Amino acid sequence: MAVEVLTTADGRAKTALSRRHAATWFAAREAGQDIPIGQAIPPLRPARPEKPELLDPRDVPRRRPGSPRGRVAILHAVAHIELNAVDLHWDIIARFTDTPMPMGFYDDWVKSADEESKHFNLVSDSLEAHDSHYGALPAHAGMWRAAEDTAQDIMGRLAVVPMVLEARGLDVTPGMIEIFEKAKDDQTVEALKVIYAEEVGHVAYGSKWFHFLCGRHEKDPKQVFHALVKRYFHGPLKPPFNEEKRAEAGLPPDFYWPLAT
Ligand SMILES: [Fe+2]
Ligand SMILES: [Fe+2]
Repeated sequence: MAVEVLTTADGRAKTALSRRHAATWFAAREAGQDIPIGQAIPPLRPARPEKPELLDPRDVPRRRPGSPRGRVAILHAVAHIELNAVDLHWDIIARFTDTPMPMGFYDDWVKSADEESKHFNLVSDSLEAHDSHYGALPAHAGMWRAAEDTAQDIMGRLAVVPMVLEARGLDVTPGMIEIFEKAKDDQTVEALKVIYAEEVGHVAYGSKWFHFLCGRHEKDPKQVFHALVKRYFHGPLKPPFNEEKRAEAGLPPDFYWPLAT
C-alpha cells in the first residue's frame, strides 16, 4: 500500500489513494483483522508529477505576503510541503520493516499520511479558488533530501523529519495564518488551522517513537538527538521556536536550543 502511494505521481491521485489505504488500514484494525506489515522496496525517490518544475531553493522567487500573487506563491509552497509529507509518512512505513516495531508505530504514520493527504487537498482547493493550482509555479527541489540521507537510519529519520522539519512547521504556521487573516481569506485560514492542529500530532509521534527506540537501546535521547541532527540536518535550527506547541508535542527546549544559531 505504501509503495503504491509512493509510485503514484499525480498529487490528487496520490492523496486519494493514500486516504483510501488509510481507511482500509483502520477498518481492518477495528475489525481485529490487522493487515500484516509485510516487506516491500520503496523507491529511493517518490513519483512526482511533471509540474511543478523543481528548482534549487536559491532560484525560487521570494514570496511577498502583501500581494495576492505572493499569497498564492505561499500557498503553492505549502501544497508542495504537504505532498512531500504524504510521501515521507508512507516512506517511513515501508522503509524500515527490518526494525520490529509495535503496530501503534504504523497506526501513527498511516494516520499522519492520511492527514497530510487532507492538507494537500485543502491547500489545493484554496489554490484553485484563486485561479491557480498545484504545479502552476516552480517549487523547491531537494525536499526529499532528508529522506535520502536517512534511508538507512530509522532514528535519524525520526530526528530529522518529524522532530526537526515538521516541528519547524509549528513555528511558522501562526505567522502564515495571520497573513491570510489580514487578507480576509477565510478558506485558507480554515485550512491552515486544520494543518496547525494536526501537525502537533505528527511531531508528537516522532518524539514518541524516537524515545521508544532510545529506550530499547538504552541510550540518552537528548544526546542521540543532537548527534543525529548534526549528522543529517545541514545547518543550524532557526529560532524563534514555538516553545508551547513543541512542548505539547513532547519536544523540550534542551533538545532544540543547543542546535540553534
Ligand atoms: Fe501537513
Ligand atoms: Fe505533518
